Amino acid sequence: MSLNTANVAAPPRDLLGRLPRDLRLSVTDRCNFRCTYCMPKELFGEEHAFLPKSAILSFEELHRFAAICVGLGVQKIRLTGGEPLLRRDLPKLIAMLSSISGLQDIALTTNGSALVQLARPLREAGLNRLTVSLDALDDGIFRAMNDVDFPVHRVLSGLNAAIDAGFGPIKINMVVKRGVNEDQILPMVDHFRNGPFVLRFIEFMDVGSTNGWRMDDVIPSREVLQLIQTKHAVSALAANSPGEVARRFKLDDGSLELGFISSVTQPFCANCTRARISAEGQLYTCLFATAGHDIRALLRSGISDTEIASALRSIWMSRDDRYSEIRSHHTQPPGRKVEMSHIGG
Ligand code: GTP
Ligand code: 5AD
Ligand code: SF4
Ligand code: SF4
Repeated sequence: MSLNTANVAAPPRDLLGRLPRDLRLSVTDRCNFRCTYCMPKELFGEEHAFLPKSAILSFEELHRFAAICVGLGVQKIRLTGGEPLLRRDLPKLIAMLSSISGLQDIALTTNGSALVQLARPLREAGLNRLTVSLDALDDGIFRAMNDVDFPVHRVLSGLNAAIDAGFGPIKINMVVKRGVNEDQILPMVDHFRNGPFVLRFIEFMDVGSTNGWRMDDVIPSREVLQLIQTKHAVSALAANSPGEVARRFKLDDGSLELGFISSVTQPFCANCTRARISAEGQLYTCLFATAGHDIRALLRSGISDTEIASALRSIWMSRDDRYSEIRSHHTQPPGRKVEMSHIGG
């Protein structure tokens, strides 16, 4: 594959001066959970039409696209879904991505349900980092939130398997929803202390058009922090990198790092270096986008890597997204926003 031309030009900047640094690849639109805030059962039931195999980018197409993006300055790739571990032979894709020179980091966000079987093959294939979504430790609350009666102990066993396979620090993402799981915040802090974990609290977001979002259901990060401070002394930590989504804190006894992802109350668009591609190859330059760019058509059209790189460059250079910053001004963008399960958060 020849990427020479793509490599020599300076990385593109969007209209707000942001570089493309992080690429999030959704490898499937399917999930074995039906989290009420993401894939509500009423809308993702038996009759829901998921993508057929022919519509989904193949590993070869994903690898080719990723390599072109690395030529444009992408440093990190995160695999998402739906639930990425439902994609057959995923370790093979990771091994293929690992061979891209210039790529610094490969991460994966999963619901953890298949880690007992897959943690080791993923690690051996070259996966660097793991993020696991976990909204509650209480089995009843967890089963109600995933809405498929999945027991929490299997995710906890998956986390043990991930540690045994050599992953760490592992990020734990907890979406906090008022009236649903706020009483799990302190138990989660206690549970994940003194382990290879970073515990992150995500404000319930108005992604997609189907999760019935209301501002009343959002618990602002500030409130979560105040609750933790009733039991623990905490201090702020400096950001790891300018584009980081989480504000970082630590318990003063050094037993746990905390992260707060406050997309609703403290948006972080100014440094947003993320591009997302759905399983069927639509490129979205914002999590809240209403339209994507058809990369699958480009990949299947017979044009060269250089021509694809140049198309991507012009898409990125016309990007001006900052939805979370302007959300309060026009709460709903015109059109239907892409579903979170389609582009993996
Ligand atoms: P690293 O910095 O590579 O560890 O990854 P990350 O923190 O970006 O990844 P992760 O998937 O864990 O992101 C956590 C959550 O933050 C996502 O699932 C979303 O809920 C939210 N998030 C991530 N990126 C964005 C973004 O660009 N915009 C908004 N509004 N929310 C985001
Ligand atoms: N608001 C906030 N976070 C969400 N996630 C899914 N839907 C939402 C939402 N509406 C989170 C998941 C997972 C990540 C991929 O996105 O819990 O951690
Ligand atoms: Fe599946 Fe993750 Fe969405 Fe839950 S949040 S339904 S685990 S994709
Ligand atoms: Fe980036 Fe859009 Fe999220 Fe802002 S709202 S941080 S531009 S993905």
